Amino acid sequence: MKTAQHFFYQNDTLTVDGVPLDKLAMQYGTPLYVYSKAALTEHFRQYADVCKQFETDDIHSLVCYSVKSNSNLAILNILGREGAGFDIVSGGELLRVIAAGCDSRKVIFSGVGKTASEIRLALEHDILCFNVESFAELRRINRIAAEMGKKARVSFRVNPNVDPKTHPYISTGLKENKFGIPYEEALAGYEEAARMPHIEVTGIDCHIGSQLLDDAPLLEALDKLIDLFDQLAQKGIELKHIDIGGGIGITYDNEVPVAISDYLTRIFGKITAWKNAKYPGQSISMMFEPGRSISGNAGLLLTQVQYLKTNSDKNFAIVDAAMNDLMRPSLYESWHTVLPVVKRQTETKTYDIVGPICESGDWLARQRTLSIETDDLLAIMSAGAYGMAMSSNYNTRGRAAEILIDDKKAYLIRKRERPEELYALETIIS
Ligand code: LLP
Repeated sequence: MKTAQHFFYQNDTLTVDGVPLDKLAMQYGTPLYVYSKAALTEHFRQYADVCKQFETDDIHSLVCYSVKSNSNLAILNILGREGAGFDIVSGGELLRVIAAGCDSRKVIFSGVGKTASEIRLALEHDILCFNVESFAELRRINRIAAEMGKKARVSFRVNPNVDPKTHPYISTGLKENKFGIPYEEALAGYEEAARMPHIEVTGIDCHIGSQLLDDAPLLEALDKLIDLFDQLAQKGIELKHIDIGGGIGITYDNEVPVAISDYLTRIFGKITAWKNAKYPGQSISMMFEPGRSISGNAGLLLTQVQYLKTNSDKNFAIVDAAMNDLMRPSLYESWHTVLPVVKRQTETKTYDIVGPICESGDWLARQRTLSIETDDLLAIMSAGAYGMAMSSNYNTRGRAAEILIDDKKAYLIRKRERPEELYALETIIS
């Protein structure tokens, strides 16, 4: 892999925007997540700039960053200041957005299992919209909004039955997936929703999967949303927004995902032509829910080699990061490029990079050719999305600390967890 623009070598030492990673490891210890603010904002602006370009008096847009991909408060705050809205999937994520100083009225709430208290919390904070995933949920929202004397804005997450051609675990828009309202049932559902006194129907949405390299399935899904929009308009139900979800992939190894500007240009091209022909003068807002394409290649996981070991011809580099820090390889067999922090000229060997956890599934990378020695530092690349956010305390391991680089300065944006904190909520019975 080429090192990305914000992660490059200077004098044979890997840096994040020019800040050497060996210095950070010395100061903050390992494992350590390190993010580049410049990369993060650059990725967000790839969306925001095209949205701005297509903005007219009656075509608007909102980029709702998918909080689940990386929910650190500093990251939410930076994106909020850039003008982002937020796509959340729990009450906890809503509280994070608020704690980060961001506007809850720019929040959309997705997820198949919203509890009554989460719905109440969201209504209290006047969120922009619930992305409703079932009729039972719709009725629950109506009931709670009635109790609170409010009207809830809703969009239906329809399941367009489009194959995103990605990993089955992160594919969500097929009939057999648990997500969304079946396409064929959406029309009747909207009619029911339109009659509910405490529901205001505002939009339509979908999210078909993650790590999509090609935007053709997304454009196909958009056609289906537009079609439903038209059918609803004929029945007198006027929607105000269309949300196409997230899903654009990133380069982990040598994949070439569609350029965000090309994807958005195609989306807005379609929307503009359709809207101007059919609904001149009517205002429509386009919404997006990107996660990985904003945070993924804005961060890496820094780890230190503890032991080198050879078992029956296989070389292992046992490092101090593990599956609890970065679950993606164990869970999806996903690839993360591994780079030495300080390059060596010595002989290379092929290693499996594994963690200290007592499970064979605890590996971070397999069969990598590296020139390393004990105590060397390694960078696990492209770990900004679904890295820290999916980490756990398995084996009573405190979560890694997180650092954000801004203008050559390092900021500690999350302290390393101490073991005492991990059992502080537990009680011994007599
Ligand atoms: N909107 C909804 C409703 C979602 O469920 C997701 C991700 C997104 C937006 C953001 O998708 P993105 O732009 O990041 O592709 N843990 C997996 C990825 C799971 C994605 C779940 N949904 C991984 O590490 O690959």
